[in-house]
Amino acid sequence: MQVIIVKDKAQMGKTAAEIVAEGMQAKEHFVLGLATGTTPIPLYRELIRMHRKEGLDFSTTITFNLDEYVGIEGTHEQSYRFFMNRELFDHVNINKKATHVPDGMADDAEMFCAEYESMIADCGGVDCQVLGIGSNGHIGFNEPGTSLGSRTHKTALTESTVKDNSRLFEKVEDVPTEALTMGIGTILDAESILLLASGANKAKAVADAIEGPVTATCPASALQFHPNVTFVITEDAATVLKLEWVRA
Ligand code: PGA
Repeated sequence: MQVIIVKDKAQMGKTAAEIVAEGMQAKEHFVLGLATGTTPIPLYRELIRMHRKEGLDFSTTITFNLDEYVGIEGTHEQSYRFFMNRELFDHVNINKKATHVPDGMADDAEMFCAEYESMIADCGGVDCQVLGIGSNGHIGFNEPGTSLGSRTHKTALTESTVKDNSRLFEKVEDVPTEALTMGIGTILDAESILLLASGANKAKAVADAIEGPVTATCPASALQFHPNVTFVITEDAATVLKLEWVRA
């Protein structure tokens, strides 16, 4: 496990973008796993800058997003499809048909989730999975208590997540209460994992993930089982870490 502590969000975005770009340049049909939320925005801004200024090419890149709300269309401003278009896809030369976000409007969610797993497998698996982390240690919408072996599935959002996310909706009743998410087992199948965290409110979850016991009460702690994980975290998200090696 590699832990890179950076000064601020801008540096987090730059460091993460260098890692992603290196992978994209090394493999033609690079399969990139993507995340939504506030945290990866500096990464997406930097990738857009690299595309514009340095010619970073997305034309053969394939993407799979971690999750999506159930019951809202991809055209809804708060859907994760809409977010990805606005924050990244609309600004780079990616083939939109090669970008995958779970379909929150699927009639048969269970069948869709199985298909999503097959689509990832058919592309040869995810080469690099970008993750954020919830203050409760969740990754994707895998809330505490989710099986560490879980695959893509439909899940109910916890009350605290609905409340957190309500800031983006007109009223709390508008926040979807269910989502489709890659499972923890799905995430662990990625060749490499890049977890980003910024802000003091993430410091405990980051320490639990890296230094705590592996437990379903902190879903991100399952990453300790993965042989190729890089955490890129800001100084304020690193304050609870105890081990000296991470600061070396
Ligand atoms: P955030 O969400 O980036 O908006 O903090 C991260 C997460 O909940 O995974």
